[in-house]
Amino acid sequence: MRTDTGRIVHLADYRPTDFVLERVDLTFELDPTETKVEARLIFHRREGVDAKAPLVLDGDDLTMTSLLFDQIEMDPARYTATPESLVIRDLPESTPFEITVVTMINPEANTQLMGLYRSNGIYCTQCEAEGFRRITYFPDRPDVLAVYTINIIADKAANPLLLSNGNFLGGAGFGPDKHFAAWFDPHPKPSYLFALVAGDLGVVEDTFTTMSGREVALKIYVEHGKEPRAAYAMDALKRSMKWDEEVFGREYDLDIFMIVAVSDFNMGAMENKGLNIFNDKYVLADPETATDQDYANIEAIIAHEYFHNWTGNRITCRDWFQLCLKEGLTVYRDHEFSADMRSRSVKRIAEVRHLRSEQFPEDAGPLAHPVRPTTYREINNFYTTTVYEKGSEVTRMIATILGRDDFKKGIDLYFERHDGDASTVEDFIKCFEDASGRDLKQFSLWYHQAGTPQITVSSTYDASAKTLSLSLEQMIPATPGQSTKEPMHIPLRFALISENGSESTASAIAGGTVSGDVLHLTERAQTFTFAGIGSRPVVSLNRGFSAPVTLHFAQSNDDLIHIARHDSDLFARWQAITDISLPILTSAAKTAQAGGAIEVEPAFIDALLAVAADEALEPAFRAQALSLPSEADVARELGGNNDPDAIHAGRQAVLSAIAKAGTEVFRTLYAAHAANGAFSPDAAGAGKRALKNSALSFLSIAEDTPALAAAAYAKADNMTDLSQALTILAHRFPEADETKAALATFEARFAANPLVLDKWFTIQATIPGADALIRVKSLMQSANFAPTNPNRVRSLIGTFAFSNPTGFNRADGAGYAFYAEQILAIDPRNPQLAACLLTALRSWRLLEPVRAEHARKALESIAASDALSTDVRDIVERVLK
Ligand code: PHE
Ligand code: ZN
Repeated sequence: MRTDTGRIVHLADYRPTDFVLERVDLTFELDPTETKVEARLIFHRREGVDAKAPLVLDGDDLTMTSLLFDQIEMDPARYTATPESLVIRDLPESTPFEITVVTMINPEANTQLMGLYRSNGIYCTQCEAEGFRRITYFPDRPDVLAVYTINIIADKAANPLLLSNGNFLGGAGFGPDKHFAAWFDPHPKPSYLFALVAGDLGVVEDTFTTMSGREVALKIYVEHGKEPRAAYAMDALKRSMKWDEEVFGREYDLDIFMIVAVSDFNMGAMENKGLNIFNDKYVLADPETATDQDYANIEAIIAHEYFHNWTGNRITCRDWFQLCLKEGLTVYRDHEFSADMRSRSVKRIAEVRHLRSEQFPEDAGPLAHPVRPTTYREINNFYTTTVYEKGSEVTRMIATILGRDDFKKGIDLYFERHDGDASTVEDFIKCFEDASGRDLKQFSLWYHQAGTPQITVSSTYDASAKTLSLSLEQMIPATPGQSTKEPMHIPLRFALISENGSESTASAIAGGTVSGDVLHLTERAQTFTFAGIGSRPVVSLNRGFSAPVTLHFAQSNDDLIHIARHDSDLFARWQAITDISLPILTSAAKTAQAGGAIEVEPAFIDALLAVAADEALEPAFRAQALSLPSEADVARELGGNNDPDAIHAGRQAVLSAIAKAGTEVFRTLYAAHAANGAFSPDAAGAGKRALKNSALSFLSIAEDTPALAAAAYAKADNMTDLSQALTILAHRFPEADETKAALATFEARFAANPLVLDKWFTIQATIPGADALIRVKSLMQSANFAPTNPNRVRSLIGTFAFSNPTGFNRADGAGYAFYAEQILAIDPRNPQLAACLLTALRSWRLLEPVRAEHARKALESIAASDALSTDVRDIVERVLK
């Protein structure tokens, strides 16, 4: 582990390497604890570079055993090797030369899961962002592109499978017990896309014929016996390949595409060229073990990694400040893919909920940073929802501003102009400017200014002049390192909805630019006046969530109900329901805090029940409407001095009122959807299950009995229904015998399935109330808890902190103290995981003073450790600042 304080890296310091890397040949002699890596690297000095400049290669925790220069042992006076770098001096002025470095590494001891490590007996690698330097000395940065040849030598019985990037060259026996395989990747790539896998795995095979008629072999490798659970992933892969051809014109470029599922992985998955490595949670699924959400995640992540082949691999990033160039764009692409595969509006609602619950708090807190940051101390800490999700929203806004055709021209130009490049955000924007003839200078502030824009809106209708005036004012909050901001270009889709529900985008407009249904807010304050409006319309603004902003628009409940009933944009209808319910929940929280009795307006309940019962609406949408803003959403809306117990109590009271008033509606819904025939993981089936389980949850509240959920648990024939029933039991009736029995049968039935046990841990870690901490502590002692497996740690300790507001934020601070201990225990093993978990405390300043003080103490106890990784040090110091 690196326990240095981490040098701060600045975008402004970027310059190309002094030496150009021409070729890479790697030979691995695999051994669990003593793997030998021989790297042959051919370089030449870049033109114009000082003839005395040394070659500086990155390392991390490396031991070198030999170094050759042009095949001859190198004079020790000419180099300096430390675990962190290899510096070679006196190199030729212009002729190419070859360096051969041998390092010894220990995959078994690699608990960071960065570089070459072992997971369940499988050798695998993770090199993004800076893991390759844990394998060999190398110019480990994304702008160094080279062609790689890989030789792998390993024990044959234990490792029948030897995989790397590119195309298979050949293999043969090697001595009595070993064999070797050679791979060649013709596409120049940066080191972070290197991958190697060796071991004994089962395989699911298929083929895909590309649009130009080439046949590509598709292989998904999983643990033996789990092959049937890879079928859905394979189907998602083929649909992704087809979609990328049809929608973006992108064809796959190797003869083989491989996915390997491993059980120990820090992130979701990794787009290594031709050899994606996945957290097995995003590969394995069948109805018995995977929820509808799991299926949707698998589809999205398989697509995401596949799409990286063009947006990330063929065109990569010049430096890590450009991370959104590949991630934001690729998330946008996977969002569009899922929207095409499923219900576009429901998908959009889910995306926005996710953005608001994850990215908005990041943008409003101490970890806020621009989509394209300008400094970092630890790059691992910049794989954030800002870079990914806000990055995707920024790409979506380019599409909104340019319109479909010009966006397509721009992205085509990007692929044409930058194929094979390590590019920048500026290169990307330039393509859209050149293709459309538009100036995107002001728009590009979205990449550079952090913070969620706040837009205050008011509208006035003048009946005699027949005009509607819409006044908008934008304010971008100060964020770390950015105290003042420029006004941004904010594209807002809108409609004016008349009394009878008809929609228009209006006629003559003064005060600003409107193109079609997009209103372009470009000034700090701007009033748009619409002429020729015969009667007072209701304004539906930011339809489809065209801009990632917060609107402060004091619309009457009548207007919101009008939108909720009539808007042809389903997203806007859902948003209107949310805009009605949030103030109800915040005022319930305040009443609970003051100890008063909570009453809920019947008109709101009636409107909500009307949506629930409306058979003209798709079930998934109705389920989204019924799932009110979360406790975290309410906390965000309250914006300070937050008491999680009061927020919880207030929200529960509102849920109870809805449940009681709607018992008949929910009974009907539950009966109608209870038997939904043979299981299919498609969006329609998932929507029905979501609505049914929402009804079950309300019915269980109304009748205040575990009996309904226990019956549902007993007859569930798929994991969605089973885990929903178990969640209702555990969260509502934690002490009931039915709950204890169900938890026990669940554990016994899925004892051999770690991914399902993760759900068992999560359900218990998120039981509301102060007792959660005791439960979490005792679950950590259970035989099934595996402290070295990131999925297990996240499912128990992570979800406790991220998704159990009342349990984690116990008034006595014991939740934070426990968490600090866990972070300190995890950090030496796996700094990336520890740092990621620590971000759960990023909003501590919004808590009421007593809890905030406890949280501060816990954070300070972490900061006081003198053995922190750079990862945790970076987060804890920023969060405390
Ligand atoms: N590049 C991966 C993705 O988003 C994420 C990742 C980053 C995985 C760093 C591992 C390490 O697709
Ligand atoms: Zn990605």
